[in-house]
Amino acid sequence: MKNCLRQAKISATGMYVPDHRLSNVDLEKTVDTSDQWIRSRTGIVERRIVANGQACSHLAVEALRRALELRGLAATDLDLIIVATVTPDMFFPSTACLIQERIGATKAWGFDLSAACSGFLYALSTGAQFIQTGTHRRVAVIGADVMTSILDFKDRATCVLFGDGAGAVLLEPAEAGEEGIIDCLLRSDGAGGRYLNMPGGGSLHPASAETVAQNMHCVHQDGAQVFKFAIRGMADISSELLKKWNYSVDDLALYVPHQANIRIIDAAAERLGLDRSKVAINIDRYANTTAATIPICLAEAQADQRVKKGDLVMLASFGAGFTWGSILLRWTM
Ligand code: COA
Repeated sequence: MKNCLRQAKISATGMYVPDHRLSNVDLEKTVDTSDQWIRSRTGIVERRIVANGQACSHLAVEALRRALELRGLAATDLDLIIVATVTPDMFFPSTACLIQERIGATKAWGFDLSAACSGFLYALSTGAQFIQTGTHRRVAVIGADVMTSILDFKDRATCVLFGDGAGAVLLEPAEAGEEGIIDCLLRSDGAGGRYLNMPGGGSLHPASAETVAQNMHCVHQDGAQVFKFAIRGMADISSELLKKWNYSVDDLALYVPHQANIRIIDAAAERLGLDRSKVAINIDRYANTTAATIPICLAEAQADQRVKKGDLVMLASFGAGFTWGSILLRWTM
């Protein structure tokens, strides 16, 4: 990215979570689990869940609206909308098209991108390149998921881990002298696909009474395998990126990891040698919102003034695929 004509920068953030809170204590009433088990094994205390009829695009529109408001832009100023999600409203049309229509972004085109919990980083990297080439000036990058739409609420090993939410950022060209998004390292390893997936509903196992009976339209996971790979994946790619740019963890003002499990976050920070005070954590309030965790953390960090202009910020994710990555950026707001 060093040699590109123009850098992309994040010029605004926004987030939206549904009003309804589902606490661990609420879950105790419907599945064989306990508040104590969930808190100690995952760090989650509660999660937000959608109301009936509320879908991925509804959450995304609210998050994007807030980002546009913060930046003082209209939806018609957007050139492109990229939506990272594994829970689109429907297979097609894309959620990006639904958002474009609902928010009135009449001059934008858009598409969905599927990389599970790494979706936002993949989308941010993709969006940044449209700015860098100079073909687009205002790109909305959204991470949004309604995980409760694909959970089996009888499976205690998965249903306690996830929640619903959306986060959005706007990308614009950096001003002269601004760094913005410095670099992105992204990876995938399809061998990990067997450990975390939703097998039903695609062309391999189209929806049928049988796929429903076999619970194939829900998240299936080997938690222990994902746990192990996630720590190494996030920490090692972040180290590699820091080293590439001759930075150390001491240079970071904020590290924003994907929020899947507080023990994964802590172990990755420890592996990196990073002090916990520099790590963004909100898993206690929202659980794992898949593509939305990182942009929600960014919106909260901006609202709480936890990041300021000139701060070096690093994002890191790990998810189904396996997919993982890290992005280094300079905060410019
Ligand atoms: N409540 C109570 N007990 C539960 C439970 C729940 N919600 N879920 C699982 N258990 C039980 C298990 O059945 C197991 O019981 P057993 O020993 O009698 O078989 C026991 O708790 C321990 O299970 P284990 O899988 O060893 O727990 P863990 O410490 O590995 O934690 C996860 C399980 C899922 C929290 C953890 O593996 C994890 O977070 N993995 C990564 C998940 C993830 O991040 N997914 C998204 C990818 S981005």
